Amino acid sequence: MHSEILLPPDLLERLSGVRSVGAITGAGVSAESGIPTYRGRGGIYDDPEAGDRTVEALSGHTLRDDPDRTWRAVAELGRHAEHAEPGAGHRALSGIEARVERFVLLTQNVDGLHQLAGTRNVIDIHGSVFATVCMGCRATDRISRAALATLERSPRCESCGGTVRPDVVLFGEMLPMDKIERILLELVGDPPDLLIVAGTSALFPYITDPVMSAIRRGRITVEVNPERTNLSREVAFALSGTAGEYLPAIESALPDAAGH
Ligand code: OAD
Repeated sequence: MHSEILLPPDLLERLSGVRSVGAITGAGVSAESGIPTYRGRGGIYDDPEAGDRTVEALSGHTLRDDPDRTWRAVAELGRHAEHAEPGAGHRALSGIEARVERFVLLTQNVDGLHQLAGTRNVIDIHGSVFATVCMGCRATDRISRAALATLERSPRCESCGGTVRPDVVLFGEMLPMDKIERILLELVGDPPDLLIVAGTSALFPYITDPVMSAIRRGRITVEVNPERTNLSREVAFALSGTAGEYLPAIESALPDAAGH
């Protein structure tokens, strides 16, 4: 597929030798699928009071005190995601995975759209709104897009009748250790030839550390974002534009090791 967006010539030249790719994504990649971002233009913090209410509802202490309130906020996220389809950015990343020998995608998004686009090696560091864990017996389960969208109170566990929680990292909660280990292993310790960071305000160390590690080891680092972030001046190529514009252009420019 050919896209109209032109990549810088020195990036194009360097992409021709790429065999392994890492991608780090945030809410901006799903913005084009109609899911609001947190920060940046059009994000939920555009209205600070509404933003604070959402953050409060989506926090670990609210889950303990009033799980129905947390679930109503998760259901709201689910309503945004219910009819959302993967966009050009999600599809391009899945296409890139098929082209290279090694691929890993670290996402902060909980909407499942990368997986729906077909990407296989995903570290969903903040979990998924469609996955649940029983707070009593720890049984895991899935909740359908339609069921989540209409949910008004916390579901009960089918095995033990206990209260079920969404398998997402809520505000004020720890990140899952197994996924942190995968980030250290697959991204920080052994950075891929090309690391793309797209659609994230890049505020957390588990997002910036892999990028800084890739820079130190001389890998190609590319940011895709219409706004500047604190990584823009660090990466080799800060591309000012949307995921839907630039990720397909990067996909087209990569060599196709698998012959697609
Ligand atoms: P943010 O909402 O903080 O940032 C979204 C970024 O996407 C901004 O930098 C935008 O400029 C950019 N953006 C907007 N539209 C875009 C587009 N079409 N293409 C590319 N970029 C675009 O989202 P995250 O960085 O994902 O955590 O936020 C990280 C975490 O903050 C979330 O996962 C959430 C929140 O606290 C939890 O819920 C635990």
